[in-house]
Amino acid sequence: MKILVIHGPNLNMLGKRDPAHYGTKTLEEINSALRERAKALGVEIEAFQSNHEGSLIDFIQEHAPGADGIIINPGALTHYGLSLRDALADAQLPAIEVHLSNIHAREDFRRKSVIAPVTKGQISGQGWQGYIAALEMLCARDRR
Ligand code: DQA
Repeated sequence: MKILVIHGPNLNMLGKRDPAHYGTKTLEEINSALRERAKALGVEIEAFQSNHEGSLIDFIQEHAPGADGIIINPGALTHYGLSLRDALADAQLPAIEVHLSNIHAREDFRRKSVIAPVTKGQISGQGWQGYIAALEMLCARDRR
């Protein structure tokens, strides 16, 4: 089983960026924690980050065939990234949207996700552990 882990704009700055909302772990530390959990679960993960919507779409188009699920934190594209949403829908894979912060407890513009309708669900406000929960959920879905 192979899971794509996709990180959107500005998430390369984790560790330095607004730790009150996003915590202190770097993106590499989050990817490492995911790799460790994936190994224990016997699944493969492929992680990718870009600050550019088109690059995220290219990655999905290239890697979705042959993958079994997607974990995605679209960053601010969550709120307006319609081409990213279309690419996810076209991928036809179970996807889980993850947010480090609770997007429902912040500014109004963050409450709306254009991505959520093409996912199996959203984990918001659980910090980096949200990614681990998403991985476990995708594995559980595959095994039921
Ligand atoms: C975020 C929430 C978004 O609103 C924001 O633009 C981000 C990070 C989160 O992980 O909490 O870049 O997706």
